[in-house]
Amino acid sequence: MSQPIIADNKPARVSLKNGKQYAFCVCGRSESQPFCDGSHQGTGLTPKMFTAEKDGDAFLCQCKHTANPPFCDGTHKTFSDDQVGQ
Ligand code: FES
Repeated sequence: MSQPIIADNKPARVSLKNGKQYAFCVCGRSESQPFCDGSHQGTGLTPKMFTAEKDGDAFLCQCKHTANPPFCDGTHKTFSDDQVGQ
């Protein structure tokens, strides 16, 4: 199984709709961050499906190392700009 790529070293602010299901990119290869675009094929990684529990903005992880996916937990602060894309 492949390791996730650090898509960015900051979270993405997205507007979620209560009750809607989303596919959160886990592999870091999607061009539609923070959501899945199918680029995980062949990595052994699969997107994390989640259902929004309220309307409003959320900060979703783009470093792909959060302990609380799909949400940012601050872990991205340990990654430098040089590590983005690796
Ligand atoms: S973007 Fe991954 S923990 Fe913040």
